[in-house]
Amino acid sequence: MDIKAVSAQIDADIQEINSLEALEQFRLKYLGRKGLVAELTSAIPGLPQEERARFGQEVNALKNKLLSLIAEKQKTLAGSSGQAAQAAGDLGMPGISQSLGQLHPLTQVTDEICAIFNRMGFSIVEGPEIESEYNNFTGLNIPLEHPSREAFDTFYLKNYTKMLLRSHTSPVQVRQMKEQKPPLAIVVPGRVYRPDAVDAAHSFMFHQIEGFMVDTGIKFSDLKGILEMFAQAVFGNDIKMRFRPHFFPFTEPSAEVDISCIICKGKGCSVCGRKGWLEILGSGMIHPNVFKHVGIDADKYTGFAFGLGIERIAMLKYGINDIRLFFENDLRFLRQF
Ligand code: PHE
Repeated sequence: MDIKAVSAQIDADIQEINSLEALEQFRLKYLGRKGLVAELTSAIPGLPQEERARFGQEVNALKNKLLSLIAEKQKTLAGSSGQAAQAAGDLGMPGISQSLGQLHPLTQVTDEICAIFNRMGFSIVEGPEIESEYNNFTGLNIPLEHPSREAFDTFYLKNYTKMLLRSHTSPVQVRQMKEQKPPLAIVVPGRVYRPDAVDAAHSFMFHQIEGFMVDTGIKFSDLKGILEMFAQAVFGNDIKMRFRPHFFPFTEPSAEVDISCIICKGKGCSVCGRKGWLEILGSGMIHPNVFKHVGIDADKYTGFAFGLGIERIAMLKYGINDIRLFFENDLRFLRQF
């Protein structure tokens, strides 16, 4: 086949082209799988040895010429014929979706619990993670050298005497009661620290929500009613609660609160240790000594307080069996929420 003749034919053909469809036909005619260039290429092995190299080069040059002619023509057609969109790509093609981030499961549970209390009239405040020894202990009626300090042991700051990482959110009770006068209804979400060895159930840092209400005539039954509303809102209406007598220095009387096991409904299983109950929080009536420390008249006002662990609630709610999962930043875990 005469390459020169083919080349001349190409020059003639390209002149005629006035649409992208025609250009595609042109491309197929020459560069398609069964096009002329393919035909010429497949003829090479049949040529005499001494002609092969030269012929090959000529075919290659022809191919390059075609490619540049097509590219050029495509540009002029796209610019002039109103088919710009088509040339620029298929606008009807599905887009590439951006994957949105989401809130950490602990943040979601915190928001949910705060919203429940907010609907019952509680305001939401926060306090600092670096606290004074006074607010974390003394103001809460936990005297120096008292054995109950051990339960709230924490990390002390080296260069600041009497400053520490709060071991519970209760110091915010002291802060708020000094700042505001009753009536008070407040919840406090936040991080707390304890020098616990890390395992499936413990972490040196975790999250709590403190809640308290102070006014004239606040009774233990108010505490029970509010907590029951809360537990049912989080775990469902058929959840049962029980109050077990307990000791906290800052409440009197004090109680630990259990809910009926959400897995076995109270029958006893491995999650609840065959007890049928799961501990979810500590609570009680605010101790008169705490009121004394913050300057609230204990003869006039009463109040309740409670503190719950957010990880514990989240683990029960979602059936998570290891607290470390919350803090490892493994996206395979986090993306499930
Ligand atoms: N601060 C207590 C704890 O961390 C919980 C608590 C809060 C108990 C308020 C009673 C009243 O264990």
